[in-house]
Amino acid sequence: MRWWLLVLGLAASAPSALSAGYCSVHTFPTNSTWMQFTKEPVPFEYGFEEKFKSIHCCVKGYRSIEWFKDGVAYPWSAGVSNLILYPEAANQTLYTRRAARADSGNYTCRLSNETHVETHTVRLDILGGLRTSVLITNQS
Ligand SMILES: *[C@@H]1O[C@H](CO)[C@@H](O)[C@H](O)[C@H]1NC(C)=O
Ligand SMILES: *[C@@H]1O[C@H](CO)[C@@H](O)[C@H](O)[C@H]1NC(C)=O
Ligand SMILES: *[C@@H]1O[C@H](CO)[C@@H](O)[C@H](O)[C@H]1NC(C)=O
Ligand SMILES: *[C@@H]1O[C@H](CO)[C@@H](O)[C@H](O)[C@H]1NC(C)=O
Repeated sequence: MRWWLLVLGLAASAPSALSAGYCSVHTFPTNSTWMQFTKEPVPFEYGFEEKFKSIHCCVKGYRSIEWFKDGVAYPWSAGVSNLILYPEAANQTLYTRRAARADSGNYTCRLSNETHVETHTVRLDILGGLRTSVLITNQS
């Protein structure tokens, strides 16, 4: 039973992560307009080789948002990362349809408004096929 739920969860996460706009659902209720996260920023993310993966910095009130992987500024060459910006999410989301082990690393978003700069780092681990099946059987 749990195994099926997990598989359904993995299958469902791909389309909804993009189309519904993960960042458009605010979980921090606030009325102020200055630059701030609109969801709890996540420090660790896991993905699976060959699968869809997206990571986010959900913010509002910013003027610009830039991304770095292990200190290298976006856009990245294929050797650095396959993740690309999702402009419809105002650059708050990075995604790839087929994650690779080499996409693992520290992704930093740098947000700025007129007066402040804030950064947040997400550590992404892309797990290989073998470890994927081990994880799934362990949870069943
Ligand atoms: C936001 O504003 C509404 C209406 O002014 C108020 O009722 C509500 O308590 C405010 N929420 C927060 C989190 O300040
Ligand atoms: C920029 O963001 C910071 C942190 O959220 C806020 O304190 C500051 O007032 C903002 N500046 C402007 C000009 O909105
Ligand atoms: C979104 O990213 C693109 C490409 O890096 C950049 O040209 C654009 O200025 C960014 N927009 C914001 C709001 O940061
Ligand atoms: C990512 O950051 C963590 C903690 O700062 C560090 O231990 C790790 O080596 C970093 N990974 C890479 C690929 O730089």
